[in-house]
Amino acid sequence: MSESLQAAPIIALRQVVKEYPTAAGAYVALRGLDLSIHAGEFVAIVGRSGSGKSTLLNMITGIDRASAGSVQVAGQELTALSEARLTAWRGVHVGIVFQFFQLLPTLTVIENVMLPMDFCGVGRPAERERRALGLLERVDLPTQRDRLPAMLSGGQQQRVAIARALANDPPIIIADEPTGNLDSRTAAAIIALFEELVGQGKTVVMVTHDDELAGRARRAIVVADGQVVGNRVHGATVHEEVS
Ligand SMILES: Nc1ncnc2c1ncn2[C@@H]1O[C@H](COP(=O)(O)OP(=O)(O)OP(=O)(O)O)[C@@H](O)[C@H]1O
Ligand SMILES: [Mg+2]
Repeated sequence: MSESLQAAPIIALRQVVKEYPTAAGAYVALRGLDLSIHAGEFVAIVGRSGSGKSTLLNMITGIDRASAGSVQVAGQELTALSEARLTAWRGVHVGIVFQFFQLLPTLTVIENVMLPMDFCGVGRPAERERRALGLLERVDLPTQRDRLPAMLSGGQQQRVAIARALANDPPIIIADEPTGNLDSRTAAAIIALFEELVGQGKTVVMVTHDDELAGRARRAIVVADGQVVGNRVHGATVHEEVS
């Protein structure tokens, strides 16, 4: 086994259960899910609609809480944190990218990128602006700094959202269908940007419905019915859990 597989995983979910209360009783979205992801991995999460992919990502980011089980991310047991600590933890350790970008429409591009730094009190205002401009250069959009998001194309808005996700230099980037609203060429450019980040040591976890894009990640984790049912590496099935 390689060295990276011997190191402690940066993301480790053990027997995670997530129940949603509904009028018809509890709906079990995650059923004792186990998952390990190592630092520097580029992982795609795939599975049918309703299988629990977004719910799984919400466990990793701490946006939502597990009903049972253990969620360890970047050395922290998230289930042990209060809401306030969880929010502070998230701001520094994970960058989140959404399908519909979710930029604040009344803020300029550079203000959007600075927002997580403002929120976490990282650096002084002048430094924040310098750092945000550096991130905009990294996603090839420095000239758009003072425009409003609505003036940008979808692909450009997603690149701003990625710059924003990188604002506090988190080790982990979590993306839920980041290319779901983009044409295939623009989508490929976003994946290339993720590959670049992985090359620089980030861990990227991306939910996608697109098999071709999933194939560009080193590993695809297959989720069905709230459980991990398989891992595909370079297109080959290397592990199937029989249940
Ligand atoms: N807040 C909620 N309350 C009740 N049920 C929910 C809630 N959120 C999700 N679910 C249910 O949990 C299951 C898993 O949902 P989830 O959003 O994680 O699936 P998904 O794999 O991301 O699907 P998609 O590919 O459509 O985005 C679904 O059956 C969904 O209806
Ligand atoms: Mg989803």
